[in-house]
Amino acid sequence: MFNKELEVTLHKASTDQMKQKPDQSNLGFGQIFTDHMFTMRWTRQDGWHKAAIEPYDNFIVDPAAMVFHYGQAIFEGMKAYRGKDDQIFLFRPADNLNRMNQSAVRMCMPRFPQDRVLQALRAMVYLDQEWVPGTEGASLYIRPTMIASEPALGLRPAEEYIFFIICCPVGAYYAEGFSPTKIYVEDEFVRAVPGGVGNAKTAGNYAASLKAQLNAHDKGYTQVLWLDAIEHRYVEEVGTSNIFFLIEGELITPPLEGSILPGITRDSVLQLARDWGYQVSERRITIDEVLAAGKSGALKESFGTGTAAVISPVGEFCYKEQCVQINGGAAGDLAKRLYDELQAIQFGYQEDPHKWRVRVG
Ligand code: COI
Repeated sequence: MFNKELEVTLHKASTDQMKQKPDQSNLGFGQIFTDHMFTMRWTRQDGWHKAAIEPYDNFIVDPAAMVFHYGQAIFEGMKAYRGKDDQIFLFRPADNLNRMNQSAVRMCMPRFPQDRVLQALRAMVYLDQEWVPGTEGASLYIRPTMIASEPALGLRPAEEYIFFIICCPVGAYYAEGFSPTKIYVEDEFVRAVPGGVGNAKTAGNYAASLKAQLNAHDKGYTQVLWLDAIEHRYVEEVGTSNIFFLIEGELITPPLEGSILPGITRDSVLQLARDWGYQVSERRITIDEVLAAGKSGALKESFGTGTAAVISPVGEFCYKEQCVQINGGAAGDLAKRLYDELQAIQFGYQEDPHKWRVRVG
């Protein structure tokens, strides 16, 4: 249920509730949180209500809250950037909120009024603007989340929810930064099945991926490349990102057929590559095609795309006993160009023909 008149109250943190800002040269990812958060509640009877920007704090959740038992939890990842002339920008925030509402529908959770939430988010980022880092490659990561809070153990969609947004200043997601990653092609575990929830940004997808990620780390890889659940042949995603391959002149990424996440960075890369005249294909690609192209030298580049990781070049894939190195293990020109262009748009140093940027304040 939408409450069109959803009021957002503002309760500013007092000076003693405000935290010390971190050293911007060593932010890491997702460890430090800003002074404020946005919260709102949903009940079947009242719809969305009690919306507030308030000091960052714990909240009380009943141990019987359905999120803990049956996993109704969805989230988003977006960023705010401190750019040209100290202006602060969001990148395609409406697309993230729209995707979150699609995740909500898939997980039988209530949709929320996107415009009102975006307004509140802009106000909160403006309020916490000193937390938006100004150092190269750093940004403010924004995490909208919704959880089922009704205390009940019968299996059915909950009738109470909490929606919240928290923010944290971050540096690069991978320790490698823009340096190429080593990727293990997962041949045992799968991330998502057809008809499942692979295209929803729901917490369980990430929990389900941990085992393979740990195995890959133990073997010295940064992340895993997921294959499809039925034939274990078709490439799906890499770790927490969508995946691209440049094979001769064709830029290839798997199509959105339900089991992969419809990435906002993925969509931006497709758009930029088309603008630049690349032949772009959203098509199925097998691991055999990738390895064969790697061996023949036709595979020029591969990179992951995601909000947290931005553009993350792949230097090597290993599948069972076979490994292929890409571009001599170095980042490719297209990955670099896309990274630079996206960052330039996100930070306000470049024209924004697709109107992706939203100014805060
Ligand atoms: C993002 O790229 O924003 C994500 O949600 C990935 C997350 C696991 C850090």
